[in-house]
Parts: sequence; structure tokens; C-alpha cells
Amino acid sequence: MFRACRWMSTKKILITGGTDGIGREAAEQLAKLGHAVTISGRNSMKAKEIMESVENTIKYIHSDLSDLQKTREFADIVAGEKFDIYIMNAGIMHPEKSETKDGIDMTIMTNLIAPYIIFQEVLKKHQDRPIHFVFVTSILLKFFSATPIGTLMFDPKNVESWRVAMQPEDASGAMKYAISKIGQAAMALWVNELNLEGVSATSVHPGTVVTNIMNGLPARHQMYIKMCRPFITKKESAGSNIVQAALCPLPPNMYYLADKKCELPKFVNSAETLTAFAENFQKFDC
Ligand SMILES: NC(=O)c1ccc[n+]([C@@H]2O[C@H](COP(=O)([O-])OP(=O)(O)OC[C@H]3O[C@@H](n4cnc5c(N)ncnc54)[C@H](OP(=O)(O)O)[C@@H]3O)[C@@H](O)[C@H]2O)c1
Repeated sequence: MFRACRWMSTKKILITGGTDGIGREAAEQLAKLGHAVTISGRNSMKAKEIMESVENTIKYIHSDLSDLQKTREFADIVAGEKFDIYIMNAGIMHPEKSETKDGIDMTIMTNLIAPYIIFQEVLKKHQDRPIHFVFVTSILLKFFSATPIGTLMFDPKNVESWRVAMQPEDASGAMKYAISKIGQAAMALWVNELNLEGVSATSVHPGTVVTNIMNGLPARHQMYIKMCRPFITKKESAGSNIVQAALCPLPPNMYYLADKKCELPKFVNSAETLTAFAENFQKFDC
């Protein structure tokens, strides 16, 4: 369970993808700690049920983060709400090729471009109060460079790699998911390296939990995951790991691997990676 740390005063917190899974769990824990929580997602019925179960202390904003225009509108709304903490948790994993109506890979759009657009919009309206961002990454961050194959397929230090990742491809959607999660860790570091007064960011792998995100996986993979059930993280713990990242920011070169503080891998914590990331993403600035 979450241990008290730096920020224990009441905060106004947005959690994207708070209508289900780990995000819902984190939202409920934050609300129970007395924070003013707003969740977002596509499914208003799920949101209604959550709001009722937490005595209507949680608010809801509808969002579809797979759509560029709708993401910009959502970003404008949440920037205007002036949250203290923005938790970028909404995520998908499509094993097959998937494309948004804007011609972007669906996983990269939802998991990575949307948080970037939200961050930029929040920044535009930022004044002098502190704001903290949480980017939800994955343990894939740790495994990615363990073999040379990972960086051969995607080199985060190369701007062309990021550009290609945005495009829908026939290649494995699992790779797009891994890239989106490397991107979230890189984004947290990049935000910190901007050195903006009062702006901080922390990335977190919440733990491996059986949730709807795994529904699209081939049956064989789902069976392996179910067989590992005794060894995987409980949803309560994964939620509490996100709560920790929200309330206990880490130094720029660190991230939370579940509840442990770890150094970011070198392929993320590199000036070349941050330069390539910034160069590629600036096309989404407006
Ligand atoms: N489960 C794991 O083992 C694991 C491990 C590492 C990291 N993570 C990360 O943890 C985060 C939460 O995953 P989860 O396992 O809790 O998944 P989940 O149960 O499937 O929940 C995903 C959430 O994202 C929202 N969402 C999905 N697509 C969206 C879209 N286009 N627009 C707006 N909201 C959207 C969903 O809302 P609606 O259904 O209302 O649209 C839902 O609230 C993800 O970023 C995931 O990558 C999960």
C-alpha cells in the first residue's frame, strides 16, 4: 500500500484511462486519500458506475485519445481545469496493425502522442503553480535493451525510428506498444530536462496485471499470462504504484519499477534520445 511522502496536501488530479483497470484502481485510492480526482475515458457508463461507487466524489470527462482533433479538444479542457497532477495512464495494446482516422498507428497515438499533446496544452496555460506529470510506462523498458534485437528494431536515438513508429505497419503491434512505453519514459525525462519552474514528471511501470488491455492478445499468450497469475501484481498494488508516482516524484534520471526506484536505462537517459524525441514530436505542437 502507498506510503506517505512529499505531497500530502489535497491535490486536484486528472487520471486518463481512469474508467477501468489500473487507472480506476489508482483513481479510487486517490479519492479515498481525499484528493479531488477526475477520470477520463471513452465509456461513460463505466464512469457513471465508478462515480456512484465512490459517493460521487470523482468527476469524469469524456475523451477519445485515438483521435487527433478530439485529443486537442480534451487537452484544451483539462489544461483549463488547472490540475495539480496529470496522470497519463490511458493505454491500449493492439497485436495487429491498427490505424487511426488520421493515418497514425493507433497504439502510438493513444499511448504516446495524446500525452504529448496534453502536456503541451497544459504548459501553454501554466502559470506559477507547481504541476506534476505521471507517465505510465512498462517493464518492457527494462527488457528492451537486454538483447540487441530490441534496439536493432527501434533505436530511440534516431529521429527516423520515431517517425517510422508513428506509421501503421504490418509489423508486430507488440513492438508499437513497447515503443509507446519507451516513449512515455523518455517523455518524463524530457519534461524534467526542460527545467521549467515548478514542472516535474515521473514515469512508472505499475506492475503486470490481468486487465482488459490483454484482451486482444492471441489466446496462447493469454493462457501463459493466466498460468503466471500467482506471480503477477495485484491490481491494488499496481494502483498504489501509480499513486506513489503521483505523490512522490523522483529525480529526473529515475523511474518506478512497481514500488522500487530504479535508474532509467541508458538508451532512454541519453541526450541523443531526448533530441530525437523532441525533433520528432514538435510536429504535434500547435
Ligand atoms: N496491465 C498491465 O499489466 C500493464 C503493465 C504495464 C503498464 N500498463 C499500462 O497501464 C495503463 C493502464 O492499463 P490497464 O492494464 O489498466 O488497461 P485497461 O484495463 O484496458 O484500461 C485502459 C484504460 O484506458 C482507456 N482508454 C483506452 N483507449 C482509450 C482512448 N482511445 N481514449 C481514451 N481512453 C482510452 C480505457 O477507457 P475506456 O474503456 O473508457 O475507453 C481504460 O480506462 C496503460 O497505459 C498500460 O499500458 C499496464
